Amino acid sequence: MSKTVTGFSKFSKEAKIDWLVENFFDNNESAKRILKTYWNRDQELQELHDEFIENTISNYYLPYGVAPNFKINGRDYVIPMVVEESSVVAAASLVAKFWSARGGFKAEVISTTKIGQVHFMYAGDFQKLKKHFKDIKIDLYKSTETITKNMRKRGGGILDIELRDKTSELENYYQLHVTFETKDSMGANFINSCLETIASEFKNDEIQIVMSILSNYVPECLVRAEVSCDVSDLGENDPQLFATKFEQAVNIANVEAHRAVTHNKGIMNGIDAVVIATGNDFRAIEAGAHAYASRSGKYKSLTNCEVKNGIFKFWIEIPLALGTVGGLTSLHPLSKLSLQMLQNPSARELMEIIAVAGLAQNFAALRALTTTGIQQGHMKMHLSNIIKQLGATEDERAYLINYFSDKQVSHSAVVDEYNKLSK
Ligand code: MEV
Repeated sequence: MSKTVTGFSKFSKEAKIDWLVENFFDNNESAKRILKTYWNRDQELQELHDEFIENTISNYYLPYGVAPNFKINGRDYVIPMVVEESSVVAAASLVAKFWSARGGFKAEVISTTKIGQVHFMYAGDFQKLKKHFKDIKIDLYKSTETITKNMRKRGGGILDIELRDKTSELENYYQLHVTFETKDSMGANFINSCLETIASEFKNDEIQIVMSILSNYVPECLVRAEVSCDVSDLGENDPQLFATKFEQAVNIANVEAHRAVTHNKGIMNGIDAVVIATGNDFRAIEAGAHAYASRSGKYKSLTNCEVKNGIFKFWIEIPLALGTVGGLTSLHPLSKLSLQMLQNPSARELMEIIAVAGLAQNFAALRALTTTGIQQGHMKMHLSNIIKQLGATEDERAYLINYFSDKQVSHSAVVDEYNKLSK
């Protein structure tokens, strides 16, 4: 029996669930109940969420945590983080406190240029195309004036339109490479609207437009964050050995792609969590960050470390196209609240904060990996989860935590010890 459906998007939410449960859950009422458990009782709030996307049937919660004690450019912050992975927020909080006692994080925006492209095919004479572009360039700007009016008032707009010959890579392929300043907005809609208007102004019988779209590769929308201190101030038993191993860990990620991907994944644990909490597009950030990590032709670490003349220096450079106005940032009550928590930053300030969150996360991971290993912390959490699942009392819990403090944690070992206890 076919399980396809027509007109699904027009069904009410209840009818969508009924159809789904009938066809894919053997009419199991518990599926219905779970979906409805996650509906918000506040009707208005639920409707707001329903309208973010299409075919909404429920909400999918992620934990919203906060990491206090961040000092960035001399200012104190509590950083909101939305993430499902345990230890990420704890690591950020620990590292924030550690560095706030050592001068805090320094961050600076290097550039804020965003990019969009009109991709087109042209089989004619290049000199003729160049002339057409030169003749029409002013009109390309003019055609977007109604779209760019407000942005220009805020100091943004189209920075440049360039004709690029890409025929050495693909036959007949050219592009208009357009650069933008979008101030406090991420600018995706603005950029795409400008590009589509430019494309329709630019095209003629010989120019076949293929597509017009922003690029999520933004190497000129770049931010740098840094920490540094005397090696002797690193707070380890043997700080010189710690600094050396830490630097080696970064160097390994710079020469070894398998390690670099995991190293950068750890950075993105911190970055994505704040990107999501502030209503920004984490897929765009992820795509852009990994492309930047490969800019030399080899996938490398997004962070760097230097230990020189008794000073430990650790920094990140990462492209982050973010917004603090428009899009979900103002629509989702929790994104709005996150931005308030961050003292209503400009997009530039948010770039600095989020780069810091990534650097902090990487510091925590490398510190753990090069000293105790990460399993110690993870296993503590694992043990705690198993104890919770077993329904242990407070006393049993205290006993089990103490018992496993010097033993290997595994699910079966905890269950065995618990069973002995309950006998
Ligand atoms: C786990 O989510 C992240 C780490 O693997 C990062 C790293 O290895 O650097 C701990």
